[in-house]
Amino acid sequence: MCGIIGIVGREPCVPLLVDGLKRLEYRGYDSAGVATVENGLIRRRRAEGRISRLEAKLRDRPIGGTIGIGHTRWATHGIPNEINAHPHITDRVALVHNGIIENFQELKDELLAGGRRFDSDTDTEVVAALLTDHMERGMPLRDAVRATLDRLHGAFALAIVFAGEEELMIGARRGSPLAVGYGDGEMFLGSDALALAPLTRRIGYLEEGDWVVIDRKGATVYDAAGGTVERRIVETAASGAPIGKAGYRHFMLKEIYEQPTAIGDTLQSFFNPAGQTVNLPDLPFDLAAVPRITVAACGTAYYAGLVAKYWLERIARIPVEIDLASELRYREAPMPEGGMMLVVSQSGETADTLAALRYARAQGQHVVSVVNVPESSIARESDVVLPTKAGPEIGVASTKAFTTQLTTLACLAISAAVARGAIDHAREAALSRSIAEVPSRAAEVLAHDDAIRDIAETVAAARDVLYLGRGTAYPIALEGALKLKEISYIHAEGYASGEMKHGPIALIDDSVPVIVVAPSDALFDKTASNTEEVIARGGKVIFLSDRPGIERLGGKATATVELPLVDSFVAPILYALPVQLLAYHAAVIRGTDVDRPRNLAKSVTVE
Ligand code: F6R
Repeated sequence: MCGIIGIVGREPCVPLLVDGLKRLEYRGYDSAGVATVENGLIRRRRAEGRISRLEAKLRDRPIGGTIGIGHTRWATHGIPNEINAHPHITDRVALVHNGIIENFQELKDELLAGGRRFDSDTDTEVVAALLTDHMERGMPLRDAVRATLDRLHGAFALAIVFAGEEELMIGARRGSPLAVGYGDGEMFLGSDALALAPLTRRIGYLEEGDWVVIDRKGATVYDAAGGTVERRIVETAASGAPIGKAGYRHFMLKEIYEQPTAIGDTLQSFFNPAGQTVNLPDLPFDLAAVPRITVAACGTAYYAGLVAKYWLERIARIPVEIDLASELRYREAPMPEGGMMLVVSQSGETADTLAALRYARAQGQHVVSVVNVPESSIARESDVVLPTKAGPEIGVASTKAFTTQLTTLACLAISAAVARGAIDHAREAALSRSIAEVPSRAAEVLAHDDAIRDIAETVAAARDVLYLGRGTAYPIALEGALKLKEISYIHAEGYASGEMKHGPIALIDDSVPVIVVAPSDALFDKTASNTEEVIARGGKVIFLSDRPGIERLGGKATATVELPLVDSFVAPILYALPVQLLAYHAAVIRGTDVDRPRNLAKSVTVE
């Protein structure tokens, strides 16, 4: 969602704010702005669109100041334009906001009735107005902030500066993440450690309900009850090095190509090559005694969780329930005593996933998370973190995070199977070997890039596309459809291939490409029959399979991509790659903004 950065510094802060915004741009990119306090007065520049437009404005009409805040927006209330862009200001305060103020209309009506005027359609401007109102009534600054926060409902992170105060900034966190950066005679606020990493490695994370007063020398953190509290300062693992495209045309393509390495790095945490075993970190509970696992996640991470359901049930014989985090959090699902909650998230900040985690904790579940950002809220609130080592994922469409999630989840499935005595050592070694082969097999799959680009011409010309798969290939079909939708804006649906005849087969004609994810596994014959049904109705089949599978279909597909023949256990990890490449090339052919597709943001911290 939106990205926030704040600096209480010693030098002109605008260049550093803009640099921080560029690192945060993946969180939202429909408008951006900065505000500073210069000679006691609030100064501001904002622009609709990318940070480069804000930079151009700042070049034309520069502003100075050593204290300032910046924001990159993903619109919730009010269309993406300059008037709705943050910071929102009055003559006394400037503030930036991530999240949603749910009672903003009620507060706005109250302030309007009191004669206050508003320029924007945002919920954020109401916070600036309310704070100013309190200050104009003579409340001391900190009391005015406290009184304002007390009136807000919803989830938010805020950073605020004040006219006449060139060494004072206030931040607040409720629901949306906010980090405090500790420098040497300068201090920072940021939505995440990635934005702050070039400025400082020493980071403290605010907890729910905290608010913080910072000056150049340090920070005083208050909890929701108003008492001062200590929050741990950690050395962030996030790199301050600039994140570039390394010669690739897009971050997404670079990240697709990083998968062999990212999967290998992830495996290193778990795989023991000497013993051909997979070892998880010590768990504070007995995996063998867990009566049920509940998985919750959103989007691509949910599809990784869906693959894990198949694995955990089949190999480890554990009952698994899975739900979208946005549904699970509100459906009051009963959870068994001693059960385990498994959350999957790249960012570790997804609001719905975090809420599902908290719900499960309240139900007494053990919480295990698979996350890519080790300092994230989800990681910090879990009993056990199983890390993915994907590194920063900048392209909004998730690629290497997905396959590293699958890698970690595969290791969890093997460990759970061993812990429960569901497999013997020979099977454990075979599964472990198959997962250890994935990095080199993934590199082989990427060698088909040119062929996939050619096939993408057919996909890019279509209005609707279907993806089919069975078993663990079904979540890959769903993921393929999601990838295509989100970056090429082509309508796509993923189906379990056995479901075709229950409705979707009516869609088939020669204008609808049907992408079949079909590794040679125990279900291959069934998928092949469903594919024949599509071909018989004139469907254009793009068949992703291995040599035996392709031979079996006997040249009836419109196009094929031959993947390596592997243990079907790891096939979903490898089959994710061609569906990513297909979506990528289709989007490039259609000329969309691949790394920053319309209406999306990387980290979804509102519900
Ligand atoms: C799709 C995509 C999203 C995310 C989802 C969850 O390419 O990236 O569907 O997977 O928003 O995000 P995380 O994993 O950060 O919880």
